[in-house]
Amino acid sequence: MKLQEMEKCSPSSDWNVLYWVIGSILMPIALPLAVINLWQRFRSQKYRNQLPGKVVLITGASSGLGESLAHVFYRAGCKVILAARRADELERVKKDLMALDVEPAYPPTVLPLDLSELNSIPDFVARALAVYNHVDILINNGGISVRADVSATAVDVDVKVMVVNYFGAVALTKALLPSMTKRQMGHICFISSVQGKFAIPQRAAYSASKHALQAFADCLRAEVASKKINVSCISPGYIRTQLSMNALTGTGTSYGKMDGTTAKGMSPEKLAERILQCIIRKEPDIIVSDIQAKIAYYLRHLLPSVYFWVMAKRALKLEKAAKKSN
Ligand SMILES: NC(=O)c1ccc[n+]([C@@H]2O[C@H](COP(=O)([O-])OP(=O)(O)OC[C@H]3O[C@@H](n4cnc5c(N)ncnc54)[C@H](OP(=O)(O)O)[C@@H]3O)[C@@H](O)[C@H]2O)c1
Repeated sequence: MKLQEMEKCSPSSDWNVLYWVIGSILMPIALPLAVINLWQRFRSQKYRNQLPGKVVLITGASSGLGESLAHVFYRAGCKVILAARRADELERVKKDLMALDVEPAYPPTVLPLDLSELNSIPDFVARALAVYNHVDILINNGGISVRADVSATAVDVDVKVMVVNYFGAVALTKALLPSMTKRQMGHICFISSVQGKFAIPQRAAYSASKHALQAFADCLRAEVASKKINVSCISPGYIRTQLSMNALTGTGTSYGKMDGTTAKGMSPEKLAERILQCIIRKEPDIIVSDIQAKIAYYLRHLLPSVYFWVMAKRALKLEKAAKKSN
C-alpha cells in the first residue's frame, strides 16, 4: 500500500472527520440550544421565586387536573382559592393540602361556584376578591365533556356544555378583569384541549366550546397585552381524570364510563407542573399531548382533506361500534 493511501485509512483521519462533524455541524446547533435551555431555566427559577404569596383562583379544583393544580401552586407557596360545585370535595382537597409540609403555607380558601349560573358569577368574584383584595392568577379549568353524535344531542346539552366550558370562563374572566387592569398585573389561564385546535367525531359540543375558548383567549391576549396582563391557553391531550365519567350523553344523562383513551392519558400531576412552568415563563399558547394529537393538529392545518378523510373513517368506526354494543 502506498504511503498516501495508508494515511487516508489511518485512525487519525477518522478522528479528523469526527472533529469536523462536531465542530461544523453539532456545535452550531447544540450550543445555541444549550444557551436557550440555560436561559429558560434561569428565568423559570427567577419567576418561581416570585410565586410564594401569589393569589391563585382555580376553578374545577374538586377533582382531576384542578386538584393537581391546587397541589402544585400550594406547594409553590401560593394562596390558593379552590372553586367548584361540590363543597365537600373542595374541603377534602383543602385538608389534603394542609397536611403537606410546605413553607410558606397559606390556608386554602374554599369557594363554591357553579359555572352554569352566570348571574351568580359577579358575586362569586366579589367574594374571591374579598379574601386577599386581589387575584394574581386565574385558572379557568372547570369543565364538562359530552359523548354523542350531533344528531343524537339535544340542543339543551349543546347549550349546557357551552355555558359551563365557555360562557362560565368568559363571565369569570370579565368579572375579574377590572381588578387586574387597575393593578396593571395578572395572569389569566384557560384550560382548553387539543379538541380546541381540531375537532373529532362525537365531541361536537365539547370541541366547539374549546374552539370558542381558544378564540376568546387569543383576542383577550392581544387586548390586555398593554395592561401587563398575561393570557395563556393550554391545550392538553387526554388526561387520566374523571372527565369521561362525568361527561354527558346526548340526552343529558351521565355517560358514567371511563374511556380507554382517558384511562391511558397523561398524569394530571405532571401536566399541572407543566402548566405552572407555562405560567411562570408567560407562554401564550401550548399544546401538551402525544404525537398522535400533534399529527392530527398539523394535518388539520396543513393537509385538511387528509384530516377530513381520517375523521370520516373514525366516525364510521364509532358508529359501527355503537351499533354492535346496542
Ligand atoms: N381529561 C381529559 O382528557 C382532558 C383533556 C383536555 C382538556 N381537559 C380539560 O381539563 C379540565 C379539567 O377536567 P378534568 O379532566 O380534570 O375532569 P374532571 O375530573 O371531571 O374535573 C372537572 C372539574 O370541573 C368542575 N365542574 C364541572 N362542572 C362545573 C360547573 N358547572 N361549575 C363549576 N365547576 C364545574 C368539577 O367540579 P364539580 O363537579 O365539583 O363542580 C371538576 O372539579 C376541563 O376543562 C377539561 O375540558 C381534560
